[in-house]
Amino acid sequence: MSKAALQLKESCERPQFEAELLLAYHLGKERTWLMIHDRDEVVDIKGFEELIARRAAHEPYEYIVGEVSFYDIHLAVELGVLIPRPETEILIDLVADIIEKERITRIAEIGVGSGAISVVLARKFPQLKIVATDICDTPLKVAAQNIAKYGLQEQIALRKSNLIDVVREPVELVVSNPPYIAEDFLLESNVIDYEPKEALFGGRVGDELLKQIIVDVKKRGIRWLACEMGYDQKAPIADFVKEVGVQSINFYKDLAGHDRGFVIDFGKGVK
Ligand SMILES: C[S@@+](CC[C@H](N)C(=O)[O-])C[C@H]1O[C@@H](n2cnc3c(N)ncnc32)[C@H](O)[C@@H]1O
Repeated sequence: MSKAALQLKESCERPQFEAELLLAYHLGKERTWLMIHDRDEVVDIKGFEELIARRAAHEPYEYIVGEVSFYDIHLAVELGVLIPRPETEILIDLVADIIEKERITRIAEIGVGSGAISVVLARKFPQLKIVATDICDTPLKVAAQNIAKYGLQEQIALRKSNLIDVVREPVELVVSNPPYIAEDFLLESNVIDYEPKEALFGGRVGDELLKQIIVDVKKRGIRWLACEMGYDQKAPIADFVKEVGVQSINFYKDLAGHDRGFVIDFGKGVK
């Protein structure tokens, strides 16, 4: 085992822990099971070594095991789909507050990815109907798997669409964690070499898609918009909404204290 941990030294912050997790995954056991079987011979050692080699090459753990723990659920993920990040849970909680206070029953999500946001919201609000879009096929396929896993087919409809172009039905709120990274931003190997570019980059500056979403949502007369954004995008978004015209915008921070998103109220009867 220590040999496996040694191989992971460059690619992981906790090599011993991840080596154990991968061994437990390989054996189809809990990590605690390893403690009392630490002298057992590893079955199919070659298969285990292959997993370690993938992680040593910076492939994210979640792609290797095909699953991520997010909010209160486990979601399937694979190459081609963004691994949901813990900070997106903050966006979900803010949206949940609005849904509750405003008794909202119909929303749309732009950029569904694995389905993380829509699945959690649908589970919180059994009366809620969601139309969730994505421009890429793999996220739509994986989101469908996750929606089926939690039996939410009646609540969440998936559409292949640019933004909300093919969402024709009335909705009261749009939520999105869109791609918002600038084209030339240097990302770590586990992200840039494995995660889909369509999920990461929002344009040359990074906030292009966010601005388009703001314009589209206002044009459609939808009252609420909640989005995640980059830590350095508060000022440009604040300037932009002054031009567009909104009733209010509230920015929020992530747990590290970085600006991370906003909630816009365009006001009742917006257009
Ligand atoms: C940052 S990921 C977010 C995924 C998921 N909602 C989450 O929070 O984990 C952005 C998603 O937006 C999708 N996307 C990119 N451009 C889009 C567009 N113009 N219209 C709709 N979806 C888009 C990507 O394919 C990707 O799945």
